[in-house]
Amino acid sequence: MIKIAVISCSLHPQSRSYVLAKQAMAQLANLDADATLYDLREHQIPFCDGTDAYNHPDSIMIRQVVADADAVLLAIPVYNFDVNAAAKNLLEIAMRAWNHKVVGFLCAAGGNSSYMSVMNCANNLMLDFRTIIVPRFVYATGSDFGDDREPTMYVSSDKIMERITELTETTVKMTKALEGVF
Ligand SMILES: Cc1cc2nc3c(=O)[nH]c(=O)nc-3n(C[C@H](O)[C@H](O)[C@H](O)COP(=O)(O)O)c2cc1C
Repeated sequence: MIKIAVISCSLHPQSRSYVLAKQAMAQLANLDADATLYDLREHQIPFCDGTDAYNHPDSIMIRQVVADADAVLLAIPVYNFDVNAAAKNLLEIAMRAWNHKVVGFLCAAGGNSSYMSVMNCANNLMLDFRTIIVPRFVYATGSDFGDDREPTMYVSSDKIMERITELTETTVKMTKALEGVF
């Protein structure tokens, strides 16, 4: 069975992208995939310095998570028209473990204008690590959530639910189709 790592990259205590990641996990449970959720708030991954940071136990752990996965879904907060620093750091810390993975994105943002913000990260993954980007994106803002920023927060938008279904289903299909290719 294919392995999918869903990595929630927000460090916010009431994170919207974490809620997207949980919803993706719920939908993956109905698909033919072995999916596991990782929450970067629970780990102390150091900033990449190109040397010693690679040897931190949490760096080794998350690099192994990426290496062992066939596909990775990144749940990402949009910061300054880009992914947040924790997500960028994850790229740097996992380095070659990203090679040839299938990667999809679930994005949480404050407004509707930043919908292209994930593309720099996608380009990095494609150019540096030859990842295959899932051509289905989830992009949600505060109005897509019920109980926004409360511990009970949930995805309230039907459109976003549909998008998560498309993303998870396409990720599984693409990953299976690529089995043995690389
Ligand atoms: C430092 C910072 C920069 C941000 N920059 C943007 C931005 O460029 N575009 C946008 O739509 N929202 C921006 N936001 C809002 C976040 O994307 C929004 O709060 C989102 O819910 C964050 O994801 P999270 O809830 O999973 O942490 C920014 C928030 C912070 C704290």
